[in-house]
Amino acid sequence: MSLTENLAKLDAFLRPYFEYFSPKFYIDFYSRGRKDFLSRLSFEEPLDINTENWSRPIKLWDIEFKNNLFNAAGMFKSGIGYKMSALQGAGAWLAGTSTSNPRAGNNKFNILHPFLPLPNSKSAVNWLGLPNDGHSSLAAKISKIEKIKSCPIGVSVSSDPSETGFTALKSLLEGMNDLSKAGVDFIELNESCPNVSNHISTTNELDKSMLERLEYIKENFLHKRNKNLPIIVKYSVDTDINLLLKLLPILIDLGFDGINLGNTSTNYSYYITKLNSREKKIFEYFTSNFGGGVSGNLIKEKSLNLCKECSKIINSINLKKEFHIIRTGGIDSYQDLLDSEKAGASLNQWYTGYFENFSKYGHNLYQNIYSNH
Ligand SMILES: Cc1cc2nc3c(=O)[nH]c(=O)nc-3n(C[C@H](O)[C@H](O)[C@H](O)COP(=O)(O)O)c2cc1C
Repeated sequence: MSLTENLAKLDAFLRPYFEYFSPKFYIDFYSRGRKDFLSRLSFEEPLDINTENWSRPIKLWDIEFKNNLFNAAGMFKSGIGYKMSALQGAGAWLAGTSTSNPRAGNNKFNILHPFLPLPNSKSAVNWLGLPNDGHSSLAAKISKIEKIKSCPIGVSVSSDPSETGFTALKSLLEGMNDLSKAGVDFIELNESCPNVSNHISTTNELDKSMLERLEYIKENFLHKRNKNLPIIVKYSVDTDINLLLKLLPILIDLGFDGINLGNTSTNYSYYITKLNSREKKIFEYFTSNFGGGVSGNLIKEKSLNLCKECSKIINSINLKKEFHIIRTGGIDSYQDLLDSEKAGASLNQWYTGYFENFSKYGHNLYQNIYSNH
């Protein structure tokens, strides 16, 4: 077993006892531990996994994905972990989210990038604040990656929260062009991070600056693409179904290639009743002191329902080219992949469930999902 496989197993065993420590200690410990674990994991090379026996390749937008599941944005923010993911058998590898300027991310009570795992509820809350090294640094790293067959490279980008107006649009476009030149195969535009100061908080109305951004990308990027480079837009799982009715025809009409539903939720009061009773206190402590986005099992139902609604809307539109739904939120089993397919989603991304599975199956987590069925 590798170091991170051992660490994950040890953590799963010890975690239940951590509730006896103070909330601040627990959050501080896991906020540090998460980053350290990820950087160790990213450099491991699981060489003994023969993906040929169980992978289920799927071709979308003329790109081959080894499987229909891969990591969600935020896991490999700084562009490490491609080889490890490809060797595990991930359907793709998604880097970022990156922004025009490097960002330090959130720091409160001396806790950098606050993160709260909720293992008994198979969920988590994070208030990281989009820390990243910037588009150009990420592009430089991606340009050096040796691609592995059927593991395309995606990158999540966002408009820089510290910029506004035309400056923000221009630097986002520059970043997308840099990343395109670096060899990315698809781009995900993150329109939904709840952890930055001026994020779009309306989930039931079309935001004016978001529409301007989509329009600008259409004119200056989508219409000027000289290679196959699908652009997907990611929204929160809190998005209102009535908003989707307005939004989807716009995305399709502008020429975008897909929608991802979605990003974390801030609907805290909704989850209190659904949380494991042992985790209610610390959840309240975290959300009232930091805020943050809820991920994992708690948002599973929301992401599935949104995908179902999305498909209904898309089926009523006369598509001129491929437009795919990606489901993110609470994916942790093969049954979830079946549910997604039934709901009309072509691809799936996981973050919280990835670690839940890693603690049980280590680097064989994709193999376990696909080969036991
Ligand atoms: C620690 C952490 C960091 C994240 N960072 C990002 C990010 O940078 N960009 C983004 O679009 N989503 C980010 N997310 C949201 C995930 O990509 C995903 O949408 C969300 O966690 C729901 O999926 P899950 O239930 O499988 O975790 C982050 C999530 C977590 C837990």
